[in-house]
Amino acid sequence: MEIVTSAADMQKKALGWRRSGRQVGFVPTMGYLHEGHIALVRMARSRSDVVVVSIFVNPTQFGPNEDYAHYPRDLARDEKLCREAGADIIFCPTEAEIYAADHSVNVAEESLSGFLCGASRPGHFRGVCTVVAKLFNLVLPDLAVFGAKDAQQIRIIRRMVRDLGFPVEIVEGATVRQPDGLALSSRNALLTPDERTQATALRRSLDLAEKMYGSGERDADEIVREMKKVIAHAPAARIDYVQVVDNETLQPVIAIERPVLVALAVNFSKTRLIDNTVLA
Ligand code: PAJ
Repeated sequence: MEIVTSAADMQKKALGWRRSGRQVGFVPTMGYLHEGHIALVRMARSRSDVVVVSIFVNPTQFGPNEDYAHYPRDLARDEKLCREAGADIIFCPTEAEIYAADHSVNVAEESLSGFLCGASRPGHFRGVCTVVAKLFNLVLPDLAVFGAKDAQQIRIIRRMVRDLGFPVEIVEGATVRQPDGLALSSRNALLTPDERTQATALRRSLDLAEKMYGSGERDADEIVREMKKVIAHAPAARIDYVQVVDNETLQPVIAIERPVLVALAVNFSKTRLIDNTVLA
């Protein structure tokens, strides 16, 4: 496995693979890897000749009061995990390699980004789209794997790929969870032990949504109300949103008639956790 830090070197390698007809699989990450990321690396491995994992804590997707400075980092451990999962290249550029000091071109998705996390984190998905577009141009992947945990993100990336014509297949990996249901996240490391215990309320609220839907409930507000009660049992939890939205447009839904995304974002102190399920 090789570590590449220069954007120019990365692109040169990628052009070489393309010329020799090798299939490139790509997993973009912000590092501090866990089994959720590694499952995506294995998916890329099973479908590609060359597997690239990028590790870049992207400053442009963090708001001014968010946790960019405190985002956990451990490159040595990430390297070990990537090697074990069969990655060929870790691309870990510095900020200057990705963003010129006078960088002035951005990619903004302007419909799906208005809802859910995009409403609470203005500019977040512009930062995500911009960096993913740039990484696609440096890594030139045939396929890129994204996790279902970031439901809005993968839908926005698919829209970007469609609307801008990136020749990249977007593959979705299922959400990997702890045995008690908490979705793995690099940010879980920032929870206190007590918050970590309380955070199981998120998955429990989604379980309840699935159960209600399974029993025939189609009133979105009713589902949201019951989910909020479950989360309210966690005294440290501060709900950002719990919403039932159309699975494609991400617009709020009143009566469930088509597949919906049930998505939530909950803060524990300064740590923001998200999770979701699709009801179809
Ligand atoms: P990051 O949060 O590091 O996540 C990298 C990828 O891992 C994303 O596609 C995310 O959906 C996936 N992932 C995270 N937790 C997961 C879990 N428990 N199960 C399955 N997949 C999981 O998402 C980002 O980084 C950034 O926004 C990025 C796309 C790299 C752009 O900066």
